[in-house]
Formats: sequence, C-alpha cells, structure tokens
Amino acid sequence: MIFLKYRITEQKIKGIITKNKSTTILQDVVDVLYESFEKYSWVGIYLVKGDVLVLGPWKGKQATEHINIPIGKGVCGSAVQSGKTEVVHEVSKNSRYLSCFLSTRSEIVVPIKKKNTVIGEIDIDSDVPAAFDKNDAAFLEKIADMLCQHI
Ligand code: SME
Repeated sequence: MIFLKYRITEQKIKGIITKNKSTTILQDVVDVLYESFEKYSWVGIYLVKGDVLVLGPWKGKQATEHINIPIGKGVCGSAVQSGKTEVVHEVSKNSRYLSCFLSTRSEIVVPIKKKNTVIGEIDIDSDVPAAFDKNDAAFLEKIADMLCQHI
C-alpha cells in the first residue's frame, strides 16, 4: 500500500513538472510532498547560493529560523558536501543537527544535483522517530532528479 502511495505521489509531481510552466513548480512540489505523507511534518527546498544554503519554498506548521545555512554546517550543509542523502533516525543523537522545531524527531536531506554538482536539496523533518527509510530515500532521490532542471 505504501509503495502505491510513493508511485501516485511521483505521478502527481511528474504532472506538475511537465504541465506547469509557471514559477511555482518548487512550491507546488513541496505542497504535494507535505500533503501526501502524514509523517512528512515539514518539507522545504534549500538552494545553494555560493557557500550558503538559502531556504526556498517550504510547507509546515511553523517557519524555521534556519533560512541561511553555511555549507558544511548542520545535516543540510553536510549533505551538500557529501553529495549523498542523509537520514537521521533520531535528531537528538546527531551532533551536527541544527534544531528547528522542538517536535522534530527524525530528518532526511536529499541533494538535488545537476551534472554531479549539488545545486539544492529537499529537506524533510518528521515528528515521528525514524520516519525515513530506504524507500523514502529512493523516492525523494527520483523527485530531486526531476527538479534539477527547474532550479
Ligand atoms: N535540521 C537542519 C536544519 C534545517 S531545518 O530542519 C528546517 C540541519 O541540521 O541542517
């Protein structure tokens, strides 16, 4: 059942990306991700600008104070350096974690790459401990690939 959910959401996002010529693609994709999975408590896209990650579209109950994150700092900044998806099962046990919301228990950060260069990332926080597994990683990596032409 959950696999179907990933497939349906992927199709919805493909629809947004192929049909939508407007400038709201990133926000629309963030909205669909947030609305499709209850465990996705906060969804945002950060964009690489020089040596800083700048927060772009996001959706969640609260705004984050981390609108600029230096590359190399936090889970987000580390994922830019490694170029790899970072999954944090329990944020309180991760020394690099930059706290945004008291309710957050786990996090996934997926780099968006163009020709092997990280140009942004999808960042999702969950209020559920260990909410993200390899299925979320594989799914979000596909979405990141779809988005790279629109950044
Ligand atoms: N937790 C992130 C910061 C961004 S917020 O989760 C929205 C980090 O450690 O880089």
